[in-house]
Amino acid sequence: MGLLSTKATCNSHGQDSSYFLGWEEYEKNPYHEIRNPNGIIQMGLAENQLCFDLVERWLEENPDAAGFKRDGKSIFKELALFQDYNGLPAFKKALAEFMSEIRDNKVTFDPDHIVLTAGATSANETLMFCLAEPGDAFLLPTPYYPGFDRDLKWRTGIEIVPIQCSSSNGFKITKPALLEAYQSAQNRNLKVKGVLVTNPSNPLGTTISTQELNLLLQFIASKNLHLISDEIYSGTVFQTPAFVSVMEILNQSYKHNDQIRKQVHIVYSLSKDLGLPGFRVGAVYSNDEVVVAAATKMSSFGLVSSQTQYLLSVMLSDETFRRKYIRENQMRLKKRQRMLVDGLEKAGIKCHKGNAGLFSWVDMRHLLGANTFEAEMELWRKIVFEVRLNVSPSQSCHCSEPGWFRVCFANMSEATLDLAMKRFKAFVVDSTTTKLNSTWIRSRNVNSTSNNLDTKRKSVAKWVFRLSIHDRSSESRDR
Ligand SMILES: Cc1ncc(COP(=O)(O)O)c(C=O)c1O
Repeated sequence: MGLLSTKATCNSHGQDSSYFLGWEEYEKNPYHEIRNPNGIIQMGLAENQLCFDLVERWLEENPDAAGFKRDGKSIFKELALFQDYNGLPAFKKALAEFMSEIRDNKVTFDPDHIVLTAGATSANETLMFCLAEPGDAFLLPTPYYPGFDRDLKWRTGIEIVPIQCSSSNGFKITKPALLEAYQSAQNRNLKVKGVLVTNPSNPLGTTISTQELNLLLQFIASKNLHLISDEIYSGTVFQTPAFVSVMEILNQSYKHNDQIRKQVHIVYSLSKDLGLPGFRVGAVYSNDEVVVAAATKMSSFGLVSSQTQYLLSVMLSDETFRRKYIRENQMRLKKRQRMLVDGLEKAGIKCHKGNAGLFSWVDMRHLLGANTFEAEMELWRKIVFEVRLNVSPSQSCHCSEPGWFRVCFANMSEATLDLAMKRFKAFVVDSTTTKLNSTWIRSRNVNSTSNNLDTKRKSVAKWVFRLSIHDRSSESRDR
């Protein structure tokens, strides 16, 4: 161990979070409709697989783009040698247009203020390196994306201080919560450098309101802080209220306030809106030229390959494709989210009202044995190992209330989602029966411990049997 760095041996990466552990369990026993129909269904991965047909059709119709060709002539050598860390101008222009289109062209983006990065992961970390020193803090509203512990803290040494939001007001960001987080950082002798929000929120699946955005801008102005808005899910808003980017509010209310404009930065990526996490395409957008210059130099450590940039510059500058894709993607996401919400409702489970994202924030507090994170872990283990659905618990998202779970709906087929809903329903019916049985036994005061366990055991056995029947019937239908 002594031969390795502390970074290599510390565990602040967050790999031991239930968020990543659930993925590991899924990898050991992944559901497949034919090869492994009793396996774990992955509902812990915010992937968007709903519009691959549109992308694939475009690729077929535009073979030059992926074939290293321009106007039928090979540009292989040009692409193979290109390594300018400023990025391909044609790609930055197309990306800026795509980002504007997603915002209904209410805002425009200057390609010269875009820094390309290997995904939003790299964009967020790059901003941390540009805006803060090791030991400084960023305030994040809870619940937040579990990956931020790795992306923001691990290599930079930055601290995250939670802004505690609560279900009592729909997890809205409030002034008292902001002030409390700020004070809590100060009590820990941490210098606060900024606030980071995801809009739309991961894991809430909701957009941030104009009122909250105004509050955030007033807060950073009063405390002289940065505001990072991670807008990686901006193209997934499928229902009103419409998405409002912080850039819109800046243009409306801070048009001539250069100082505040320089303190606001956007993170973007094509991992969610275009469903291309494997392509590793992300971006930092900043109004501060010094940040743009520093982030550009840092981007040497995580560039986007010229081949990918070229392909996407052709795809995203195709206005017809761009518009059709954005509209169709939103419609399909809406349908999927409805399927999940309705399916869970049939199982007596409610979702936080969402209008965006690739997931719902699901309320399973009534299924907890107690209002504690230990009970949440117990329920989570049951859902993963017995129900065989990988979902992300509240605790992994740093939520202060046990019993909420992030459940993804866009990384699987409709038939698989349907099966997942059946598994949920069978589980809830069984849990309720078990609870009723054990209450009845306790009230009769008959050798309660052994009877309780016995009832539970029988009940689980019955339930596993019922599920395998369900699975078999959906399996034959899936085929
Ligand atoms: C809010 C948020 N930011 C950043 C990321 C990382 O995205 P990328 O694949 O572009 O690195 C994710 C991925 O889930 C995310 O949800």
